[in-house]
Amino acid sequence: MHKLTITWDENQTPMSTYFDDVYFNTKGAIDETTYVFIDGNDLYQRFLRHKQDTFIVGETGFGSGLSFLLLWQTFLHFRSQHPNHILKYLAFFSVEKYPLSSDELIKVHNNVISDDSLLLLAKQLQTHLIDSTCQFDNVSLTICYDDISNFSKFLAKRNVLIDAWFFDGFSPAKNPDMWAESLFKDCYALTALNGTFATFTAAGFVRRNLLNAGFKVRKRKGFGVKREMLIGYRDE
Ligand SMILES: C[S@@+](CC[C@H](N)C(=O)[O-])C[C@H]1O[C@@H](n2cnc3c(N)ncnc32)[C@H](O)[C@@H]1O
Repeated sequence: MHKLTITWDENQTPMSTYFDDVYFNTKGAIDETTYVFIDGNDLYQRFLRHKQDTFIVGETGFGSGLSFLLLWQTFLHFRSQHPNHILKYLAFFSVEKYPLSSDELIKVHNNVISDDSLLLLAKQLQTHLIDSTCQFDNVSLTICYDDISNFSKFLAKRNVLIDAWFFDGFSPAKNPDMWAESLFKDCYALTALNGTFATFTAAGFVRRNLLNAGFKVRKRKGFGVKREMLIGYRDE
């Protein structure tokens, strides 16, 4: 039987049974995820400026796929506004060592998502949960169901160069493996020129590890009451 990956606290916030940390705060999850990852990577503008037919996003920690769903929705919006733009495809690569069960995934989506169009995308994702690769029209999703330490090899084998990263592996203090300098060095090597990253944390050791990996790093106001978060890019 699938070991429960999630418990729910009194505010209906999903907590990891492995890391004693929240996936996200249920209240404001959509706004926070949009602010940190979609806006943090300036994705709508990046789509507009993109000169190739495919935009590639990498993520550390697939979880409930909420970030993927919001990205997918943003991309569909972009495509509907710019149907003749050269950018036609979105490819999303993520890693997940502790996948949610189908019931857990559906419960998270139902608790967090109220927007009908996003729920429709969530339902499509729910039917493909255990597939490591799925194609939703012009959007592809590839999940490496493995430990983070094997993610860069997985990407390198597929000749992937990432245009934008979502670094999202629970609190750095509780899960340092997802924020290691060696991981960021591998990510940097797999980042396209001018590719960007965004993450919700501004922890000192995360910032140093990103800088040591080669990224240009900048602090930005965090979401809501959070003071700071980090964004950055590869410039050479
Ligand atoms: C904060 S959650 C990600 C939330 C997610 N982006 C979403 O949209 O729901 C962090 C994720 O990282 C995964 N994770 C933690 N440690 C990992 C490891 N060593 N290797 C791979 N995945 C890991 C967890 O299982 C969890 O799903």
